[in-house]
Amino acid sequence: MGRAISGGLVAVQRHDFRRFATDKHGSVDDYPFGGGPGMVLKPDPLFAAVDDLKVREEIDDSTPIVLLTPQGRTFDQSVAEDLAAAGSVALICGRYEGVDERVRTNLATDEISIGDYVLSGGELAAMVVIDAVARLVPGVVGTEGATDDDSHTSGLLQFPQYTRPASFRGLDVPETLLSGDHARIAEWRRREALRRTESRRPDLLRTTDLSENDRRLLDEPSQPG
Ligand code: 6GU
Repeated sequence: MGRAISGGLVAVQRHDFRRFATDKHGSVDDYPFGGGPGMVLKPDPLFAAVDDLKVREEIDDSTPIVLLTPQGRTFDQSVAEDLAAAGSVALICGRYEGVDERVRTNLATDEISIGDYVLSGGELAAMVVIDAVARLVPGVVGTEGATDDDSHTSGLLQFPQYTRPASFRGLDVPETLLSGDHARIAEWRRREALRRTESRRPDLLRTTDLSENDRRLLDEPSQPG
């Protein structure tokens, strides 16, 4: 991320919406109508903060405005790809016990959760989203195609990786990977990605399009190397 930012490939800006508080105390939260515990983030500072970004042309009407909330749709690689393709994204970090519903209905274009657990605020979720999206920006991660084999990019988990030494404490790198035979290596990797996905994440396999060849690879008996 540091290199992506200093290299001008990605820009991340943080905006404190307390600056847009409308009362003299600078409050951004208030008691819930109808009563109950906790505080609710007020709509007006959030709307004003987004308006300000538009006026200053930091974002435009096509920029997704994402509310980070445990009630959102679950973030995954395809959502990351969509946000990366959008070119700019505004992330609103929910805090406290809730956010005024009008932010959800009339300001946010999307609501995202990073998983089925509760964080005390959207800040860590925002950092997760920023990292996952930024590494999809061309040039941020190595050379072109460097993210193609990542887990989840192809709908499969990543194949096992090895580096030197070829033999370490009696643990040997699969012979195929040392063979220099690129076609055999590609087939080995595809088979291992398929098997690993089948054993650890069968749910992914059900929603991934498998070729005839993939099915053949999955049906092959296991063999070392
Ligand atoms: Cl986006 N926000 C909060 N507060 N908790 C979460 C989350 C977001 N995603 C998962 N848990």
